[in-house]
Amino acid sequence: MQNDPIGLMDSGVGGLTVLKEVQRLLPTENTVFLGDQARLPYGPRSVAEVTMFTKQIAQFLRQQAGIKALVIACNTATAAALTTMQQTLPIPVIGVIAPGAQAAVQTTRNHRIGVIATAGTVKSDQYRRDILAAAPNSQIFSVACPEMVTLAEQNDLTTTHAQSVVAANLASLMDKKIDTLVMGCTHFPLLRSAIQHAVGSQVTLVDPGLATAEQTAAILKTHGLLNPATTRGTAQFFTTGETAHFDTLASQWLDQQPMPAKHVSIAQLTTPMEVN
Ligand code: DGL
Repeated sequence: MQNDPIGLMDSGVGGLTVLKEVQRLLPTENTVFLGDQARLPYGPRSVAEVTMFTKQIAQFLRQQAGIKALVIACNTATAAALTTMQQTLPIPVIGVIAPGAQAAVQTTRNHRIGVIATAGTVKSDQYRRDILAAAPNSQIFSVACPEMVTLAEQNDLTTTHAQSVVAANLASLMDKKIDTLVMGCTHFPLLRSAIQHAVGSQVTLVDPGLATAEQTAAILKTHGLLNPATTRGTAQFFTTGETAHFDTLASQWLDQQPMPAKHVSIAQLTTPMEVN
């Protein structure tokens, strides 16, 4: 089982920001990633729908690749489905919100923390709960920024248009005196420079991907599942969207040149499959 891949899933390319950190921290691990671009965005969807999609993808990754652990590399799906997945899957399931909240608490000095995310994540209030559980004196300011998901998916990261959309989305945070801003959507680290420009250099940006990779390593270790290999692991990619578009973003973002993604139809995800 130690040689089996770690599965990662997101609604789109955002989850690659988590994969990149996993590959940096755990270079010998094999990975398999699925971006559900045909059904993006997850942000405005109901908890029930996002949970159903997450279950379908987990089942596909288990059947297709025999994953030894699942990283839900999507804040919206973590908020909606992490507990259900942990209760129903026989493998470790890791989300991005608890590690991101912990990293924010460790970063802030003035206890004023901004969270930018999708509507679904903001509505779940999960970042607020996790931050307050660790640091009850915190003040949290959450803003839904759905247009920024679109920018990242369109690979519009540094243009004047991207900068003005980001600035408009973050405008309500400007008078809150935050010193820490959680990029609570896995698409947002792709827009890091536009976000930093909008909030100013005195605000520290938190990318939950790094803390999620650290938690993944710790959980694999506890379960005796770390891959003992000494050579670099393999990385497989699937998308329900257009493979060419996925490949462009993946090769731009990841440290190593990725293998071309394979297309998965929604029918393949929704057809019941037997998994032990
Ligand atoms: N990348 C996802 C997240 O972290 C969501 C983007 C979307 O599909 O709305 O929440």
